[in-house]
Amino acid sequence: MKIKILGSGAGGGLPQWNCNCANCTSARHGDGDVRPRTQSSIAVSENGVDWILINASPDLLAQLRANPELQPARSIRDSGIAAVLLIDAQIDHVTGLLMLRERSAPLPLYACSPVFDDLSSGFPIVPLLGHYCGVERHEITLDEPFSIPPASGIRFTAMSIESKAPPYSPRRNASAPGDNIGLLIENIASGTRVFYAPGLGSASAAVRQAMESAQLVLVDGTFWRSTEMIDLGLSDKHAGDMGHLAQCGHNGTPGMVQLLDALPSATRKVLIHINNTNPILNPHSAEYAVVRARGIEVAHDGMHFQV
Ligand code: MLT
Ligand code: MN
Ligand code: ZN
Repeated sequence: MKIKILGSGAGGGLPQWNCNCANCTSARHGDGDVRPRTQSSIAVSENGVDWILINASPDLLAQLRANPELQPARSIRDSGIAAVLLIDAQIDHVTGLLMLRERSAPLPLYACSPVFDDLSSGFPIVPLLGHYCGVERHEITLDEPFSIPPASGIRFTAMSIESKAPPYSPRRNASAPGDNIGLLIENIASGTRVFYAPGLGSASAAVRQAMESAQLVLVDGTFWRSTEMIDLGLSDKHAGDMGHLAQCGHNGTPGMVQLLDALPSATRKVLIHINNTNPILNPHSAEYAVVRARGIEVAHDGMHFQV
């Protein structure tokens, strides 16, 4: 099973169009310290030809250009994207669906029912696509393993996680199960597992167990500190208000670094969905040194895994 990180950035990407923070400035000027990153998406494949796109980023077209293996070109109109799976209805995870409208057949779309609800009301991208390629709707049931054709050797299990429905959702402040999921992605033949959760507000016992059972974890790397946006004067919200667990603990709650520390040393631990304000994006920063010393990796676009 192959996993490719198409976009390792959070919403806004890096550099963000209107941001002049230290990371965005460095990425914009290409001084070599901070690598640009596109918005959050990964792709999974069993055979390296047919891919399941997990989240459809606003940067999807640039990601496809940067990853030619997703473009097998077997006929005049063709794509390696066999289906799309959404983990939530956030703008940075769904806007790329619009860029798939030229398909000649309906797009197989896998998501939980609250996500389909938001994408049929507040951000009605599903009915809108009905006027283009159309959507073949596949509703995911929590905790029930499923496969997505043609990748029948990969088993997905969606777990309810605590995070946030999008700002435009009527459930922003009272999430329902299925608004946000973490994914266990398993290579059935080898039994190898990946846990993917780019938006993880807190880790329940079930989430910690899923992380322990995985050989590779790709988890929320949005913020270093809970007060990061407040400290920079960019927002009045804590990481938790946005559904993200910061790497540093806050008010006695352990942070992501502590959670990853508790995993077996052989587990590959990768931070993903990294906001442009996060100091770990600069390889010369003290914060980057802290995560690397603990064996935690910082995702970048194009990073790939064979599991
Ligand atoms: C998030 O991860 O908190 C959201 O994607 C933010 C956004 O959509 O701008
Ligand atoms: Mn996001
Ligand atoms: Zn910035």
